[in-house]
Amino acid sequence: MAVLAAEHISKTFGSEIASAVGVQAVRDVAFTVEQGTFLAITGASGSGKSTVLHMLGGITRPTEGRVVLEGVDLAGLDDEQLALLRRRRIGFVFQRYNLLPELSLAENVALPLELDGTSRSACRDAAVAALEQVGMSHRADHRPDSVSGGEQQRAAIARALVTRPAILLADEPTGALDTANSENVIQLLQKLVLDDNQTVVLVTHDSSVADAATRVIRMRDGRIESDTPRPHAAEVARS
Ligand SMILES: Nc1ncnc2c1ncn2[C@@H]1O[C@H](COP(=O)(O)OP(=O)(O)OP(=O)(O)O)[C@@H](O)[C@H]1O
Ligand SMILES: [Mg+2]
Repeated sequence: MAVLAAEHISKTFGSEIASAVGVQAVRDVAFTVEQGTFLAITGASGSGKSTVLHMLGGITRPTEGRVVLEGVDLAGLDDEQLALLRRRRIGFVFQRYNLLPELSLAENVALPLELDGTSRSACRDAAVAALEQVGMSHRADHRPDSVSGGEQQRAAIARALVTRPAILLADEPTGALDTANSENVIQLLQKLVLDDNQTVVLVTHDSSVADAATRVIRMRDGRIESDTPRPHAAEVARS
């Protein structure tokens, strides 16, 4: 079974106002994602990449079609159930790391578990393990502003991973990073896919970032223009 399925999803913004002409951000997009895939979604600005990602992650509800995550139709969930599923089964990474400045990296990473009522010591253990996974456990007790942008993004990835989500969704995760830090973060995502069989969907307009993926979907004017498997990408990363 696919981890994730986008079943002919469309999104029109503004359609709730009868007199307004809606913006058709996404039109009839359909694809499935198997576990252990590193999928990059690329395309020009405004082509609908982020809107697709937000629908995959249950942040935005499609106007038409449906998203199925691990066999669960997101359309069948009310807002509260959807919020729970987002917290437990989906990891989000954004261009801005959104780490809380007054908390240590470990405390930031532990937040999703803490919100779920996990005990303090179990939170700490899981946070350190997730930081270990991204090569950041030696900075567990540092505040975000005392580490580099690339390290902050790695911590944000640890926070996304701490619940062991079915899927990691990333929107331009290297957008704020210099070349060296950007490569570092992309290599980390590749490692998570190869070593841990993590499923990753990444949105980027940077073709060098997309080169790291095992599959590339190119979008244009809200539609899928091409969908290309690149199975060799994994082998290149391994060698
Ligand atoms: N909340 C919204 N309300 C109205 N229109 C929106 C909204 N969000 C996105 N759009 C429009 O939908 C289209 C697709 O936007 P989207 O953000 O998905 O593009 P994108 O490919 O992620 O672009 P970028 O590379 O600039 O981030 C654009 O025309 C955008 O203006
Ligand atoms: Mg975008």
